[in-house]
Amino acid sequence: PEKIILDCDPGHDDAVAMLLAWANPQIDLLAVTTVGGNQTLKKVTNNALAVGTVMKMTGVPFAAGCDRPLVRPVEVAPDIHGDTGLDGTELPAPAIELDSRHAVDLIIDTVMAHEPGTVTLVPTGPLTNIALAVRKEPRLAERVKQVVLMGGGYHVGNWSAVAEFNIKIDPEAAHIVFNEPWKVVMVGLDLTHQALCTPEAYAKIDAVGTQPARFVHELMDFFRASYQDAQGFDYPPVHDPCAVAYLIDPTIVETVQVPIDVELTGTLTVGMTVADFRGPIPEDCHTWAATRLDHGRFWDLIADALERVGEH
Ligand code: BDR
Ligand code: CA
Repeated sequence: PEKIILDCDPGHDDAVAMLLAWANPQIDLLAVTTVGGNQTLKKVTNNALAVGTVMKMTGVPFAAGCDRPLVRPVEVAPDIHGDTGLDGTELPAPAIELDSRHAVDLIIDTVMAHEPGTVTLVPTGPLTNIALAVRKEPRLAERVKQVVLMGGGYHVGNWSAVAEFNIKIDPEAAHIVFNEPWKVVMVGLDLTHQALCTPEAYAKIDAVGTQPARFVHELMDFFRASYQDAQGFDYPPVHDPCAVAYLIDPTIVETVQVPIDVELTGTLTVGMTVADFRGPIPEDCHTWAATRLDHGRFWDLIADALERVGEH
């Protein structure tokens, strides 16, 4: 299995990423870390612990990380995720305790405790923790197997015409992450806008028939209403689990190698992930962009994860 650290800001789709990372046998979830993003750090951390409780995620350390971007002010997304960051369902009181370490230290300790080239970082929120971790412990750049992140895109944005939320919130952190020499796989909006929770997807979730499945159904209902009102979608794009799905089966999430950098100064384009498709691809190109999703097999993975979590 792929050893991963999930760095997230739950978040409706982050919750589904947690489920997939925890329950799929191809993934060995070493830690869950949180970062301020969809809501304040306090809220998303509480949400992570509550989702971990619903999914009975025992034996996985959880740690809270940065409460604000490196340079820019805090900006949250209540129009998409509600006031709690996970509106639309009743959350249980967390039965999981936080690790006493800062997320940045838990990430560093975990990567350094494993063989070089064996741990993959999977960020599904702003990249603040990951950027700080590689600045604090520069050996991470060689030691980490790869960074598979949900963020960015090469065509459309969602937090501006050209920038995606996770990158736009902390573009300086994203700039650090995309410019370290490690392998970066950008699972961006081009891919995740194919991961719609359609009626077929709902049917797969509902067929499981357990409490965790009903929990995911409720999350999807709120997410759908948000995306209809705020962004004109018929069905919500469930971004974050796509990064985990890539690691489980790269034939479900296709990628191409392409140089990518992050815009920091454009007045209209700050936070844009600029992919250079002109070719030829330079030999030292270490970035990949996700292009095409197998929608049916993606939702089968989610349903399979729910089956494996069982009834709680
Ligand atoms: C990303 O932003 C957040 O709202 C989602 O959780 C996802 O990580 C999509 O742009
Ligand atoms: Ca997220």
